[in-house]
Amino acid sequence: MTRSFSCEPLAEIIGHIRSGLTTGRAVIRVPNPDAGHGRYPGEPASEHPGAARHRPLRVWTDLADRLELRLHTPVPLGDMIELCFTQLDPDAELLDRGVRGPGKYTPGSGFHRASKLEEPDFLIDFDDALHRCVLPEAPRVLSLGVNTGDELRPLLEHRPKSVITGIDHDERALDVARSRFPSPHAFVCADLGDLPELPRFDLLLCIDTLQSPGVDDRAVLRHAIQELLVPTASLILGVPNCRYVDGELLHGARMVNFRQPELSLLLKGVAFYKKYLQQHGKRVFVTGKHELLVTAAAIGLR
Ligand SMILES: C[S@@+](CC[C@H](N)C(=O)[O-])C[C@H]1O[C@@H](n2cnc3c(N)ncnc32)[C@H](O)[C@@H]1O
Repeated sequence: MTRSFSCEPLAEIIGHIRSGLTTGRAVIRVPNPDAGHGRYPGEPASEHPGAARHRPLRVWTDLADRLELRLHTPVPLGDMIELCFTQLDPDAELLDRGVRGPGKYTPGSGFHRASKLEEPDFLIDFDDALHRCVLPEAPRVLSLGVNTGDELRPLLEHRPKSVITGIDHDERALDVARSRFPSPHAFVCADLGDLPELPRFDLLLCIDTLQSPGVDDRAVLRHAIQELLVPTASLILGVPNCRYVDGELLHGARMVNFRQPELSLLLKGVAFYKKYLQQHGKRVFVTGKHELLVTAAAIGLR
């Protein structure tokens, strides 16, 4: 049943949506956010006594995210809008939980249906991170867990003369990367725990890979600093803080048996990367929302 809300608190609206979802969808009418520009969530939408509460559109997209629902395109109805929330299919996860090892992210797997470069959060933060790095005109770049090389596109826009070495244990993904980024770039099939002999690099990229099952993130980072990077090198490490379900991006790292995002493992990892990199003379920044980016650049070079 569609219900209209005007001055009621958000908690009441959430209760109504939750109980309506037994049918798979909940429809509500709320004040049109365009009538209250500049007002804050819950503030009266105008000076008139008894005015409805203003809530910006973001409140409704955030609510859909937190309740793991799909928000359909709002329908304007004069000074109200109609919002329809429907349940996501919890089994429609992008990544196949049953698959472990090299096949999980291979071309044709669910992983390739979602492009990072279509997410404003990643695109903008990664570009900012590249600008924070201190790089020569033609940097030698090492990308660990490179897969098909999506993150190399923004890098090459920023530094077109980069010469990239990509490492992954998925040979099929590397074949795609080779066709997208021909020589002088090189792609090597190897396990991150047993890397071949490599020259030293000016930039390390490691996006969404350090916390993969079977990867010892601390050992990989130590090895990179000690054996693979020049002392003035920069690093960008990406750690996902989201997951895709049924076409929607849900914020926050999830743990089994937790209804809400549980961030302790992610924060522990990021805190270690930051401290370790600071101990090795880097200025470290942690940015991002759905994807946390740890960016490190040598102190004193800028
Ligand atoms: C989540 S994907 C990230 C791919 C890419 N960096 C991106 O962000 O689109 C993780 C990648 O790391 C690779 N990977 C995971 N564990 C690995 C290991 N032990 N050795 C080498 N590659 C590994 C996977 O094959 C996959 O391509």
